Amino acid sequence: MASHTCADWFEDRIAAAVAPLLPGFTVEAVAEIDSTNTELMRRARAGRVEPVLLVAERQTAGRGRLGRPWQSAQQQEEPASLLFSLGLPLAPADWSGLSLAVGVSVVESLDPTGEHKVGLKWPNDVWVNDSKLVGILIETALPSAGRADAARYLVIGIGINIGPRDAAGMRTPPAWLHQWRPEAKAPEVLAELALPLVRSVLDFEARGFAPFAERFAARDVLRGREVVLSDGSAGLCEGVAWGGELQVRTDAGLQLISSDEVSVRPRGMAF
Ligand code: BTN
Repeated sequence: MASHTCADWFEDRIAAAVAPLLPGFTVEAVAEIDSTNTELMRRARAGRVEPVLLVAERQTAGRGRLGRPWQSAQQQEEPASLLFSLGLPLAPADWSGLSLAVGVSVVESLDPTGEHKVGLKWPNDVWVNDSKLVGILIETALPSAGRADAARYLVIGIGINIGPRDAAGMRTPPAWLHQWRPEAKAPEVLAELALPLVRSVLDFEARGFAPFAERFAARDVLRGREVVLSDGSAGLCEGVAWGGELQVRTDAGLQLISSDEVSVRPRGMAF
């Protein structure tokens, strides 16, 4: 792990803001790593389950959902992407809807008033004008053998395009924050996101998806659109149910899609 970062990541400031909610919370910034998610999952498997936020300026093996690789924008003088993972033990009564709740938190931090039309594409991609601004990868590690509590170690990995990036080879064209915030820098965006994200995750642990359902609906970019699913079915998207499932009205009736293995696109966009 190369240690010298080119940016100041405000580690102490972020840790001090979050620690009252998550005792023992720390922030680590590194110049390069294979993947911040992979690193926190490695640590969890080795029994290290402390709450931590790990941010990297470059990833050599970034990972996306559905086993896909995640490529970040080319670094200029400043980090052109914000790449980080939050890891913490969590024991909600029901995990359904967690990834949507995380998406809600990220969207509300990036575009609090909704004026920039930053929205959520089920389950948790962040889109602007059908272009992808943020990817979120959520993983959990089982508690180590012998631990009696029900907590799993949760790793939430978030990649945000800050500066421009090339669309070549991407399934969804990219959007980036500088399109409407040309002065934004990755460290300040992290400082804006971290505390609300932790709050949201703890709120989800206590109360489940219910407090997030209407907020998701307000930012849902698929609702009311014809969609096609990777399993071949197609229909009208009727938004998200109270458990976080995608509701699609097909010829066979209303389908509730909960599987993370199914991907969905607005009709007309290639898979
Ligand atoms: C997706 O849209 O497929 C999810 C992309 C998630 C990318 C982030 S970048 C930080 C963290 N580390 C990873 O390897 N992946 C996530």
